[in-house]
Amino acid sequence: MTQKLRVYEDTKALFHLPDGVIYLDGNSLGALPLGVAERVNRVITVEWGHELIRAWNTADWYVQPRRLGDRIARLIGAEPGSVMVGDTLSLKVYQALAAALEMNAARKLILSDTGNFPTDLYMAEGLIATLGRGHQLRLVAPEAIEAALSEEIAVLYLTEVDYRTGRRHDMAKLTAKAHALGIVTVWDLAHSAGALPVDLAGAGADFAAGCTYKYLNAGPGAPAFLYVAPRHAGSARSALSGWMGHEKPFAFELGYAAASGVERMRVGTPPVLAMAALEASLDIWDRVDIAEVRAWSLDLSDLLIDEVERRCPQLKLVTPRAPTQRGSQVSFAFEGGYAAMQALIARGVIGDFRAPDIMRFGITPLYIGEDEIIRAAEIIEEVIAGEEWRRPEYQVVNAVT
Ligand SMILES: Cc1ncc(COP(=O)(O)O)c(C=O)c1O
Repeated sequence: MTQKLRVYEDTKALFHLPDGVIYLDGNSLGALPLGVAERVNRVITVEWGHELIRAWNTADWYVQPRRLGDRIARLIGAEPGSVMVGDTLSLKVYQALAAALEMNAARKLILSDTGNFPTDLYMAEGLIATLGRGHQLRLVAPEAIEAALSEEIAVLYLTEVDYRTGRRHDMAKLTAKAHALGIVTVWDLAHSAGALPVDLAGAGADFAAGCTYKYLNAGPGAPAFLYVAPRHAGSARSALSGWMGHEKPFAFELGYAAASGVERMRVGTPPVLAMAALEASLDIWDRVDIAEVRAWSLDLSDLLIDEVERRCPQLKLVTPRAPTQRGSQVSFAFEGGYAAMQALIARGVIGDFRAPDIMRFGITPLYIGEDEIIRAAEIIEEVIAGEEWRRPEYQVVNAVT
């Protein structure tokens, strides 16, 4: 059996981190695992270059979406054979929501919260318009979700960890309550997978989707994943009925017939090069204990909260203090938050900004430790107390914040 890796102690050396940078944005784009370049290069030169089209069989490109799904399954408490990799998260939540709505066709309401990531809400709007059957998206405050569950709701459609505040929903409790009222659940795990232990099977979740470019470190534009509970996998319909989700893609039949199980959630040709990067990043995840990552993440988050609150009273914590109620990021509201983040980035402390005033710091214990957190807090103090952020160059707003 491959030896387990100790979080940070063994894992930090497996990432490329530029000198002079304290990287607190792994909740947006994970750092580069050293094994990625070699793996992608091998897929390019040996598999694509030498094997050419044969590699779909000889290098197992065709079965890779399912294989990688099984490796992600371990991190999210999913049953083997229930997770499929491919496409983008926006497409995967669309597929999940469409299938969930169809399972509850007599009801017309989708319940979500005002903290959900916009693409999830936009995809729901688009799906509602395409279906044209009078569905509605009802948004309530995150704290009001539980009370808003009722027998009118078709689908509970939530992101487990809020991208801005880091607040975490209680997936097990909400799923149980939803099921008692006949509601189907769809969970977005963008800020959960690789950030904290998720137990989809234990919670009885129906559908879930997530991305691999954040805590899973698979690189910009890395493919997403979709979970379908095994009890639904034989009946859930894919709204994106592409040829790769057909039961016999290479029979080239004129009509669509869904593949069995989660295979039906495949759409088109998978991104082979991006999957190679994911494969290499999962080589690290296969060898770490997510419970250990979580324990470190909470300690480091507490440390950052303490250090920043002590040094910078101007920054207001918006992440819940209770460990069970947060994911793996720490966010502060600050009026000059955008400029302050630019000033921090110029000093090598990389976090990001979310409108209107949130400074986000991702906590990724695979490559961030206590020394980096304390050094980051010192620099945050210098930027805020020293008013460095007021300089004109930090007021220029970039396309990506
Ligand atoms: C919760 C959540 N869902 C979805 C997305 C984005 O989806 P996509 O990968 O399709 O851009 C993000 C991006 O940060 C996110 O935070």
